[in-house]
Amino acid sequence: MAIKTRRIGLSLGADICWPICYEALLKKLDLTIPDGRDKIRFDVERVFIEPFDLKQPCEYDLVIDRLTHWYHTSREWIKKSILTDDLYVFNNPWSLQSMEKQTTYCAMMRLGFPVPDTWLIPPKSYVESADLQPTLKKYARLFDLGAIGDKIGYPLYMKPYDGGAWVGVTGIDDQQSLLSAYDDSGTRVMHLQKGVEAHDAFVRCIGLGPQWRCVNYDPAAPLHDRYQMDLDFLPISEETHLANMTMVINAFFGWDFNSCESLRSKGIWHPIDFANACPDSQVTSLHFHFPWLIKSNIRWSVFCAATKRRMKTNLDWQQYFDIADQDKPFEEKLAEYVAIAERHFDAERFNEFCEEHLSDLDEIANEFFTTDLVKDAIRQKVEALYPAHELDEFTELFWNRVQDSVRLEGGQPG
Ligand SMILES: Nc1ncnc2c1ncn2[C@@H]1O[C@H](COP(=O)(O)OP(=O)(O)O)[C@@H](O)[C@H]1O
Ligand SMILES: [Mg+2]
Repeated sequence: MAIKTRRIGLSLGADICWPICYEALLKKLDLTIPDGRDKIRFDVERVFIEPFDLKQPCEYDLVIDRLTHWYHTSREWIKKSILTDDLYVFNNPWSLQSMEKQTTYCAMMRLGFPVPDTWLIPPKSYVESADLQPTLKKYARLFDLGAIGDKIGYPLYMKPYDGGAWVGVTGIDDQQSLLSAYDDSGTRVMHLQKGVEAHDAFVRCIGLGPQWRCVNYDPAAPLHDRYQMDLDFLPISEETHLANMTMVINAFFGWDFNSCESLRSKGIWHPIDFANACPDSQVTSLHFHFPWLIKSNIRWSVFCAATKRRMKTNLDWQQYFDIADQDKPFEEKLAEYVAIAERHFDAERFNEFCEEHLSDLDEIANEFFTTDLVKDAIRQKVEALYPAHELDEFTELFWNRVQDSVRLEGGQPG
């Protein structure tokens, strides 16, 4: 019998609370998973940033990354490690780098998702470069922005084609506001998107591997209240529909961890923002949902590391397009996409694995989330984000919400 150690690396930036909880809960679980006559154990450590030889072996089996989308040294180390050492990483760095909002809108429109009508417009201004003037003089056509606005209809949203974190997003109600928002948009390439009018629900569906959680989301609330705490706020059929759309999006782009924002208007769920492949993971935003995230992260990472899941370095889109191009209702197509997504995420095997090897996770986690270690992790995150005079108040607030979630998940009356 041999002990095989699977090494999990955490590639982190400003993250404080979730890695502390992930590391401590995994340690507490003290997993030993049988593998034939051998046993698999798990080691977690943080990945450091340093120069690397392109032929230098990677010592990790799996990396959970939070930097790829903006810190290029880590992204390039991850790419090297996938190419030369079969590293598994959440999320696929190539897909994350190249699939901005624009790509995700186009692809999901092709699959039949009811993404609101969207136009892409050339930028208002440019950074000078050698070929810029001859190119624009010869090929840039004057266009009538007001006519495009009228065609889309108001209200509409102007937002960067590759946007995130609400930067540069403007709600626009008339032509005059459209012209002035464009004047202010600078060098960014923008989308104009039809507003989902009179929407009566806004959901953020978080997907982690084949796991998901629909969160009732209030974009107008202050940050600590945006993720609402009600569960079962949707009929099961709608929750399943949102989970299915999220899983298909994530499988399509090869993302293990992503969140999909959808708005419901006249009974139809319109996805509006689903290129979020480094989703919010902090207790200060997730609070009540934070234990779900830590447990789901442990389940999926342990499964991937233990079974030596291979990274899908190629995305096979044609299989989706073959379904998309058929003449049948969207719901039927969606069911077929979901079947591909479930195969992609090995959902059946994952569920069996969790039943067999992680059946006590919920119970151990429920105990864990009541400990001082968790409270201290929350405090550290609050300390990093809030002014000193709010430290106690917000630490208590988030701690109490985590306790509420533990009580509910533990089946005790809240
Ligand atoms: N088509 C739309 N209809 C209604 N509201 C929208 C639409 N697009 C964006 N919004 C609003 O603007 C916010 C930010 O836009 P979003 O596309 O989510 O950009 P980001 O990637 O920056 O989060 C959304 O959370 C929503 O409140
Ligand atoms: Mg958004």
